[in-house]
Amino acid sequence: MTLQEHDRIALELRQITKVYPGVVALDSVSLSIKGGEVVGLIGENGAGKSTLMKVLGGVIAPNGGEIVIDGETLEGLSSQQALDKGIAFVHQELNPFTNLDVAANVLLGRELRRGPFKFIDQSAMNAVVAPILERLGAHFGPRDSVADLSLAEQQLLEIARALSMNARLVIFDEPTSSLTLSETHRLLDVIKDLRAEGVAVLFISHRLSEIEEIADRVVVLRDGKNAGELGVSDINKDVMIRMMVGRNVEQFFAKIDHSEGDCVLEVRDLATQTFPDARANLQLKAGEILGLAGLVGAGRSEMAHAIFGIEPVKHGEVFLHGEKLSELTVSTAIANGLCLVPENRKEHGLFLDFAIYENISLPNLGTLSKRGVVYRKAEQELASKSRSELAIKTATLANPVAELSGGNQQKVVLAKWLAMNPRVVILDEPTRGIDVGAKSEVYHLMQALAAKGVGILMISSDMEEIIGVSDRVAVMHKGNVTGTVSGDEITEENILRLAVG
Ligand SMILES: Nc1ncnc2c1ncn2[C@@H]1O[C@H](COP(=O)(O)OP(=O)(O)OP(=O)(O)O)[C@@H](O)[C@H]1O
Ligand SMILES: [Mg+2]
Repeated sequence: MTLQEHDRIALELRQITKVYPGVVALDSVSLSIKGGEVVGLIGENGAGKSTLMKVLGGVIAPNGGEIVIDGETLEGLSSQQALDKGIAFVHQELNPFTNLDVAANVLLGRELRRGPFKFIDQSAMNAVVAPILERLGAHFGPRDSVADLSLAEQQLLEIARALSMNARLVIFDEPTSSLTLSETHRLLDVIKDLRAEGVAVLFISHRLSEIEEIADRVVVLRDGKNAGELGVSDINKDVMIRMMVGRNVEQFFAKIDHSEGDCVLEVRDLATQTFPDARANLQLKAGEILGLAGLVGAGRSEMAHAIFGIEPVKHGEVFLHGEKLSELTVSTAIANGLCLVPENRKEHGLFLDFAIYENISLPNLGTLSKRGVVYRKAEQELASKSRSELAIKTATLANPVAELSGGNQQKVVLAKWLAMNPRVVILDEPTRGIDVGAKSEVYHLMQALAAKGVGILMISSDMEEIIGVSDRVAVMHKGNVTGTVSGDEITEENILRLAVG
């Protein structure tokens, strides 16, 4: 559907303010957008990007400011009003209804019905949803169960939902953080199509190369305030970073030469449920950062989960520090100094209603307590150390994790596991949703751990990260490790070649 000229949206947020207890999330922020324009919204974790978009999507009410839309001035929007105005929102935090199928999730609240009894018209719904999924290159169909979808697939589902609304403005809050290269390219193409159709797009991403590729204009937020704008010809990474962070971020990927140690983790002929016939082999040495690359669905997270004992193994063996594990369970893994920092922080990583310091101390209570009594002081010290090491942005560590911005939640997950002083760490998409400044902190932390002899297995779909950080890169395809590259062989071409099998 092509929007007619008069259908195009013209929208302005004027001096929007949003205050939470102890935090001014938005301080008089203004932003405008019109049909056929892609505006990139960037800023560090906690800068206020999601909050601003939630005001626009009718999710939260601002404390001050106004929204001018189609010439009408409003003090705020309800979510119904936002829908009526043609605003669709792809949220950063995904909450699909796992008891419904894909089509029901995509058309939630807008189910197609037929006949006098208004029965749900399944085939009509399938007919609407299938082409949208195809456009996104999704490998699942309208009738598939949402409970079986991976994080990346849930993300595509959420995008499909927004596209199904034929909106005049689509807000994408970090849509690509769990997508791989090819899915990302496809999404960026879809966004270019939307622009050509006259749709307005607000696009939030910490992957600045994506912003460079599609934004017509960039709006920068810093500490809840406007920090400048860039027109299309001025958009480049260095300038964006300087505006976001307020300084230059140097030595983004600082590789240190590690001395090669003994093998700390070995996987022999491993197969998991999805790929029962695969025979994956992998060796991780002490003091090494081994990148694990592959396309979405290649079985990387599943292998990590199997090693850590949270998914069943069909075949194969795992050795830690040269000893074969008699059983693969979480307690054996942890007892042998192995940690997994999971990709999906909501599901495996965090207790959202608990305080930040409690989340960090939780797996570390053994070292922080004596005879069942937790030393609050030790707990607080551990939390403040993590807060400064990872630059966790919060008014107080007593706040529940749910109130942190997405990227800061990710930092809490990292902090909690790293505080255990693991000897082997598996990081699944460690910098997902983390801003440039904090990313370089995380990389430094990883280098420091490796220098201390910790073996690090890093699953990442971010090609720059894989290439920039890894000493060696193992690549997976359909449950098998199809090859390992090191040194000068670590190139995008080599990795992609192995990733397609
Ligand atoms: N429900 C809430 N209660 C209290 N504070 C909140 C709440 N939601 C957000 N905040 C605070 O508002 C600020 C802005 O958060 P916001 O989620 O908008 O950041 P963001 O720019 O989207 O960051 P990220 O890149 O990490 O997603 C942060 O300091 C955050 O802790
Ligand atoms: Mg956010």
